[in-house]
Amino acid sequence: MTRKILVTSALPYANGAIHLGHLVEYIQTDIWTRFQKMRGHECWYVCADDTHGTPIMLRAEKEGISPEALIARVHAEHSRDFAGFHVAFDNYHTTHSDETRFYSEDIYGKLKAAGLIEVRSIEQFYDPVKNMFLPDRFIKGECPKCGAKDQYGDACESCGAAYAPTELKNPYSAVSGAKPELRSSDHYFFKLSDPRCQEFLRRATRAVCENQPEAINKLQEWLGEPGENKLTDWDISRDAPYFGFEIPGAPGKFFYVWLDAPIGYMGSFKNLCKKKGLDFDAFWGKGSQAELYHFIGKDILYFHALFWPAELEHAGYRIPTSVFAHGFLTVDGAKMSKSRGTFITAESYLTQGLNPEWLRYYFAAKLNGSMEDIDLNLDDFVSRVNSDLVGKYINIASRAAGFIAKRFGGKLDARHLNETFRAELPGLIEAGEEIAAQYEARDFARALRRVMALADQINQYVDKHQPWQLAKQEGQDAKLQEVCSLLINAFRLLTIYLKPVLPKLAQRAEEFLNVAPLHWADAGHLLPPAHLINAYEHLMQRIDPKQIEALVAANRESLAPTSAAVAPAPTPEPSPQRKAQHQQATEDKTQGQAEPKAQHISIDDFAKVDLRIARIADAKHVEGADKLIQLTLDLGTETRNVFAGIKSAYDPAQLVGRLTVMVANLAPRKMKFGMSEGMVLAASDADGKSPGIYLLSPDSGAQPGMRVK
Ligand code: 2FM
Ligand code: ZN
Repeated sequence: MTRKILVTSALPYANGAIHLGHLVEYIQTDIWTRFQKMRGHECWYVCADDTHGTPIMLRAEKEGISPEALIARVHAEHSRDFAGFHVAFDNYHTTHSDETRFYSEDIYGKLKAAGLIEVRSIEQFYDPVKNMFLPDRFIKGECPKCGAKDQYGDACESCGAAYAPTELKNPYSAVSGAKPELRSSDHYFFKLSDPRCQEFLRRATRAVCENQPEAINKLQEWLGEPGENKLTDWDISRDAPYFGFEIPGAPGKFFYVWLDAPIGYMGSFKNLCKKKGLDFDAFWGKGSQAELYHFIGKDILYFHALFWPAELEHAGYRIPTSVFAHGFLTVDGAKMSKSRGTFITAESYLTQGLNPEWLRYYFAAKLNGSMEDIDLNLDDFVSRVNSDLVGKYINIASRAAGFIAKRFGGKLDARHLNETFRAELPGLIEAGEEIAAQYEARDFARALRRVMALADQINQYVDKHQPWQLAKQEGQDAKLQEVCSLLINAFRLLTIYLKPVLPKLAQRAEEFLNVAPLHWADAGHLLPPAHLINAYEHLMQRIDPKQIEALVAANRESLAPTSAAVAPAPTPEPSPQRKAQHQQATEDKTQGQAEPKAQHISIDDFAKVDLRIARIADAKHVEGADKLIQLTLDLGTETRNVFAGIKSAYDPAQLVGRLTVMVANLAPRKMKFGMSEGMVLAASDADGKSPGIYLLSPDSGAQPGMRVK
């Protein structure tokens, strides 16, 4: 039976770069939808950028562009990053769309008509300089528990305490620095506490979480015992100025995230329906027979298991079949960290030249469909990918292909090998349905363990028959062709089983095998007798541990809080080698070479360079280096080690204590003498003759750490 399936991943905010933490979810969802498609089901995978909110509005303002321009740029960056990891959405839309506006207004109107919207006055912090209400994240102050300074309005990063922004001591606005005032204003609420919602949720949402016992437990905790009313009403509005959809009939009030982000799922699908001529109601209408699944992080389970189904139900739409929550990503056992270089962006992973399928395989090998966190252990990543994918799987093809090409003109055995195959490699064909069930249950870890056990079994068959020995023996041609033909068939089966995880590798394997794109049902039979295969080209490189070192170095903290978020324009990135050359050239220029004026760049390009005032805390000669001085630069909150090519013009002693300007977000670079963590700015004379090097200094009053713009 062909199933109709609609699948979503959570919509990423349009104000930050995609990083490996995000990718856990998109890769998980992509594997599952590719699997469903390979099974022959009608399966659609949609997503969109979550474009509304105060942070996006303020960020655009800071960059001097419109929010529309910002979200258009980020949309292109996100699309590029997802495509780079082979995440194949059927539609990647935006919540800032006519379709999402339509369903937001429609759902709101129906909830209002049902008496489930209420207006209440609430008190909130207001920035009297910026003339706006402040979201919790934009209020800072001293932690009410431990007294740590500069903590956010919702939680302390120093002691971990959670609190309301009104509890902060000496609060200030992170937008203008002003002291915020408490002001009241009308907010719109969705009445989740209404008996109809309570009754509905108790009855219906267990099913939504049924695949995940941990989620059921959470739900139980949130709903409480029958008769208890633990659900609170949900604030769905924000006041102008705000970037979003204005609430109909409520001037100056805008829909807040949970009344437009998940509705973006519908908006994106509606947009796809228009492109493909699909029937929207067949998927979203009440009584729809289609299956609807939301893949999400465990942090937004509350909204997807309670708020969202209640919203859909009372607006007359179907509710999700299931919500699939996953855990968070840790790297080497700890939270991703900018200072350790483990907060890795998708873009940097790709520009460092790492193969996206290595990561897809590793994540899949860890994902078991539960809400547990998953750990990317960088050493284990290298050894697992190298030993499983290259050592076990790819090896099967490379061991057999050469003989088939050289000795048999690329032709497989002309006999029907079904019986021999089943006798020599028992269970390989039968495993297909078992592995399918594991993919279906999102237990990719188990599916891949099974595939690798099959690969071991096949490699044992290779060792038993030793084709390289057969090739040397007289009269063993037929046996050699049989053994290698079985191996090519076995490789083809494993390719089918791995294809949801490794789509590009599978595509190259299909070219080598000279077959049409493989579907799951193809695992039920072997290649036809005398099938011709193409020349084998190596299908996957091993990971060199040096590549991982370079990746971590490239992601090590840059001071700019926005630098990870201000991703580059969607143009092809230079290779790491070219980047290094560029950096070298820039440094050479500070040593006095004449140069033509550079091309125009946009203000956005300029904004990517994080220039900071730095105080030279220490300066030393570098033993064995004739051009360099080693500087310790104080940026107010941290110090940096920088090797600067200024020795011909300065004596270290005269530099200590003075202020200069540095590039604070230059990727750290390993030099012969140590790591250089940035660059100081200097002017040089036009003819390139030393000692024309002039270190920049700010006017008096500038403080270490200040941004130069
Ligand atoms: O939590 C988030 O990342 C939000 N951008 C919402 C995503 S889920 C959804 F409903 F769109
Ligand atoms: Zn604290």
